[in-house]
Amino acid sequence: MTAAARARTPLVAANWKMHLVAAEATAFCRALLAAERPTRVEAAIFPSYTLLPAVAAALAGSEIGVGGQDLHPDDSGAHTGDVSGAQLRDAGCGWVIVGHSERRRDHGEDDVTVAKKLAAAARHGLRAILCLGETREERRGGATFAVLERQLAAALATAPGSAADWVVAYEPVWAIGTGDTATPAQAQEAHAFLRERVAALAPGALAGELRLLYGGSVKPDNAEELARQPDVDGFLVGGASLDAAKFLAIIHGCAAGR
Ligand code: PGA
Repeated sequence: MTAAARARTPLVAANWKMHLVAAEATAFCRALLAAERPTRVEAAIFPSYTLLPAVAAALAGSEIGVGGQDLHPDDSGAHTGDVSGAQLRDAGCGWVIVGHSERRRDHGEDDVTVAKKLAAAARHGLRAILCLGETREERRGGATFAVLERQLAAALATAPGSAADWVVAYEPVWAIGTGDTATPAQAQEAHAFLRERVAALAPGALAGELRLLYGGSVKPDNAEELARQPDVDGFLVGGASLDAAKFLAIIHGCAAGR
């Protein structure tokens, strides 16, 4: 492992999507705080907006991060149903997810919108997890790298310059919620490509220090092997992050693999 890889603190993030209510969220946080966690892995929770105050309060004083699952590109305005970066900060967030494939699919978000959201996150001092990844058809058609390059290049056009400000999550759409996890070799191949392209497209972005997460059916029994890959710096976990014991097991698996 290179010195830059060693310097990258792994991050395991829980994307709760549209699940849980406040009592369940608080119980999850209590279980997480009560458990023994490896100090060399960072953790962050991304609940629905309505749960943010409860989760931020439950995790206050801990080193576990809290973030929104999306934000609007504008700082305020007539955007019914949307949430701004300032509002996320006000609710206790230090993080935000940008460009998740479910947002791209359900809300028609294109690369330009995603780039604007990344810029909004930076304006509000939110660290962003930029999600990208190919569909099954794109992989079958041999377009994986072209899709990743297109999504990355659009984001980098406005992305903040420091590797401390953002994280990239490679989430192959065919692996999300399907149980069809990418193999460690597939994840490593995509991550190595992304790191190489970040270095080429944005030399100031400190590609060697940028954290690259894998997301898509990560579970307690595949986390360690995935984390052994030199360019896998942690995980964005959906389904398995709803259960505190499973999420903890993934954090431990990540630590064991590094
Ligand atoms: P999954 O979701 O772990 O349920 O596959 C990952 C994600 O969408 O972030």
